[in-house]
Amino acid sequence: MRQHLVVGNWKMHTTLSEALILATSLRNRISEIGGVKVVLCPPLPWLVPVAEILAHRKAQLSLGAQDAYYKEEGAVTGAVSAAMLKGIVDYVIVGHSERRRIFKETHMLINEKVHAVIKEGMTAILAVGELTRIHHQEKRHHGRPTRTEARSDITTQLDEGLEGLSKKEVAQIVIAYEPVWAIGTGQAADGVYANHVAQLVRKWLTRRFGAQAALEIPILYGGSVTGENVEEFAGQPEINGVLAGGASLKVKEFVALCLAFAQ
Ligand code: PGA
Repeated sequence: MRQHLVVGNWKMHTTLSEALILATSLRNRISEIGGVKVVLCPPLPWLVPVAEILAHRKAQLSLGAQDAYYKEEGAVTGAVSAAMLKGIVDYVIVGHSERRRIFKETHMLINEKVHAVIKEGMTAILAVGELTRIHHQEKRHHGRPTRTEARSDITTQLDEGLEGLSKKEVAQIVIAYEPVWAIGTGQAADGVYANHVAQLVRKWLTRRFGAQAALEIPILYGGSVTGENVEEFAGQPEINGVLAGGASLKVKEFVALCLAFAQ
């Protein structure tokens, strides 16, 4: 059975003491929930102290990093390599739209990062998503991109992001479908829409890696997921979990996401 996964992306939030309190509460609450894998992605400097809090956790709770550089070491001021994160985290988010937009990360860089994360034995959570909502009409409407254009955003991100990956390596990939227009806006996609795009992603994965491998890859939805709307996504056949930003900072809310995906 495909694993269900709930990922909390804390982004650039929490002081150290807030991070420790949040991690402790989540560890205690999540240990009571079975049948879902949960990944916490705190800010980089809190990874080690949070790892200590989670030291005696159950296997279903993992730690993830929000990014990693692809070179093992060297003169790269400010960067932290996937090799350095090995042994601290099991997952690394790669290609988040905020990295693409704010840090101008290219497809090529994202692809290098994916390879580095896999090489170090961790799982890469590759984030992909269209900039504006996919419309059902093919003609340009009020200046917004057509469905074909938006769909090609996602396929380009998949083509380029997963370039050169083998069928074996793709077992270390999770896809997070995150429509950029839904991130942090309070305007989540509806479940049917998100499932439709997840289906397109699954088809792409099937063409590229074969049906068996594609079936095993978790596809998450991300973008303004809350305790209120999570059931909408949990009920969709192609959506295997969520990647949450804002909701991951609130214990009650994040636990609700985990419960919704517990199998
Ligand atoms: P959000 O962020 O849940 O706050 O919209 C999601 C994300 O950026 O991963």
